[in-house]
Amino acid sequence: QQTLGTLGKKAGLRIGTAVNMDALADDAPYRARVAGEFTSVTAENVMKWEAVEPRRGTYDWAAADELVDFAGKNRQLVRGHTLVWHSQLPAWLTEDAFTADELREILHRHVTEQVTHFKGRIWQWDVVNEAFNEDGTLRDSIWLRKLGPGYIADAFRWAHEADPKARLFINDYNIEGVNAKSDALYDLVSRLRKQRVPVHGVGIQGHLGVQYGAPHDIADNMLRFDELGLETAITEADVRIPMPADSTELEAQAEGYAVMLRGCLLTPGCNAFTLWGFTDTYSWVPDTFPGEGAANVLDEDYAPKPAYGTLRQTL
Ligand code: XIL
Repeated sequence: QQTLGTLGKKAGLRIGTAVNMDALADDAPYRARVAGEFTSVTAENVMKWEAVEPRRGTYDWAAADELVDFAGKNRQLVRGHTLVWHSQLPAWLTEDAFTADELREILHRHVTEQVTHFKGRIWQWDVVNEAFNEDGTLRDSIWLRKLGPGYIADAFRWAHEADPKARLFINDYNIEGVNAKSDALYDLVSRLRKQRVPVHGVGIQGHLGVQYGAPHDIADNMLRFDELGLETAITEADVRIPMPADSTELEAQAEGYAVMLRGCLLTPGCNAFTLWGFTDTYSWVPDTFPGEGAANVLDEDYAPKPAYGTLRQTL
């Protein structure tokens, strides 16, 4: 039986998963599926700033290097996640501790150090993550407050300088369909391209919930980015369900996954479809959305749910 990865290759895209490094070390069936089913991987947490620079000036690349080595052995590409974000920052990195000039230098150094460390081994970087609010304004983060909106262009320039071959993405959630947030992202990347800022792709996270319906206009949205000459990717697909999940909800979940995959398949420049984990065992959903769960394509015993078969049929 063909894997999602081999089916994806025929369709011209990489099928990836976020990887939980504890599970990769401790759970052999998990490890076997990461190695066998997928053609790209994303670090679920170990490339985030709090993980790589827990104390100022002290870098810890061990876990991230382990994933990159694992991917190399299994001929998988790596999506780097993520360089500039408001969340999962190290405890030492607070707004009051530094002036704006210092923070700009800290961010510059972070981007340069991290991209340089992995130079040549990262296919796509999520350079800037979740920069927008739902209404399309820029998120009120440490970066916007202290550095102003120019931090976004700066981060792309710094990343490009450190690894000119890496494909550089801006990534966000709730931008599957055409809405205020995806409109604002479209305007931003249009401006950045005109200014010759090295942004190459738009990452659509794809965290859906069955109770919100599926983004049936996803291809319209993705195609407008395609027309700008940008690559696109679904970077963090999962479809959560209010617990307990019944069979209707599992079918709706399969439809949610299929709508996103079809959006990608209909978009020439969409080259990656990444699941935010593949088994309900290690999902982030129950911790973040109390009362919801069962968001992945395999259940807690690694048995396929309807969504798994639907993805295979759609590819
Ligand atoms: C999540 C991880 O899955 C969790 O393990 C962690 O506790 C919090 O972050 N958008 C992103 C991802 O870009 O980095 C987030 O990952 C999920 C939402």
